[in-house]
Amino acid sequence: MNPIIEVSHLNKIYAGGFQALKDVSLQIDKGEIFALLGPNGAGKTTLIHIICGIVNRTSGEVLVDGHDIIRDYRYTRSLIGLVPQELATDQFETVWNIVRFSRGIFDQPKNPAYLESVLKNLALWEKRKNKIMTLSGGMKRRVMIAKALAHEPQILFLDEPTAGVDVELRKSMWEQVRRLRESGVTIILTTHYIEEAEELADRIGVINHGELIVTEDKSRLMKKLGKKELNLELKAPLKAIPEALSGYQLKLSPDGLVLTLAYDSTHNESGITELLDRLKENGVSYKDIYTKQSSLEEIFVQLVHQ
Ligand SMILES: Nc1ncnc2c1ncn2[C@@H]1O[C@H](COP(=O)(O)OP(=O)(O)OP(=O)(O)O)[C@@H](O)[C@H]1O
Ligand SMILES: [Mg+2]
Repeated sequence: MNPIIEVSHLNKIYAGGFQALKDVSLQIDKGEIFALLGPNGAGKTTLIHIICGIVNRTSGEVLVDGHDIIRDYRYTRSLIGLVPQELATDQFETVWNIVRFSRGIFDQPKNPAYLESVLKNLALWEKRKNKIMTLSGGMKRRVMIAKALAHEPQILFLDEPTAGVDVELRKSMWEQVRRLRESGVTIILTTHYIEEAEELADRIGVINHGELIVTEDKSRLMKKLGKKELNLELKAPLKAIPEALSGYQLKLSPDGLVLTLAYDSTHNESGITELLDRLKENGVSYKDIYTKQSSLEEIFVQLVHQ
């Protein structure tokens, strides 16, 4: 493993005394897409802002590429691009100037060809001469991404990048994120669209009330906490589950037409063939059979409510 961000025992208590982060420890590997999930007020933005040096930590350590974010602020900040949750940029400036200035702030040499490719990838090239105030909400959000990419950062934070973005555009932004990762950029995103994390992330972190309650490989998380369901659509309705099948955790739909068996994903699935044999023996026949795996969304809800 090759961590590019190392957060250890991080605490944040805001001026009013509110503790927004509690002993958070986390490593982000170079080149991964990490999705940070959690309900409103969980502490996601606070964590990101501390790593980016916008908010001061109360205690703990944060290293970016092995450098302390306070001692070596200029260096660590230069590696990072941040797309903030709140859109804040000069409304009277043009798209082109915004990306050009942003590159300049980080002392990067001029590179119009690079900026052109960034704007083209985000479908903003036609709007480059427009003032920000003349753009739609979704376009403004994309300008924030272009601005964050202007200095060719190695790490990109996307704080709810697709809030208020239409479905088609969201998909094209996912493409863009994947392309960035392929070019070696490490990506940390927060989102309330769990399907976005399911679609994009290599790893998932769940934060709740300032505590990081889970960090896990996405597929492992879904395997570990996911449930599977086997559904049988019956040919004729059952009044009740036959006595001989009482050993199985079966549920019958109110109309008597669907039998459901819930089991966890790690469960040995050979029990299913046995169940099907038992059904046959008891004269229960079905016309369709399908399985359903719980989504990351269901797992997430289960995690933050336990
Ligand atoms: N400047 C501040 N002063 C005091 N409390 C703050 C400040 N900024 C944030 N908080 C509090 O810290 C907690 C975490 O806020 P944060 O913005 O990190 O949450 P979040 O997980 O990003 O939520 P959301 O999903 O709504 O964006 C909240 O209770 C919030 O009210
Ligand atoms: Mg936030």
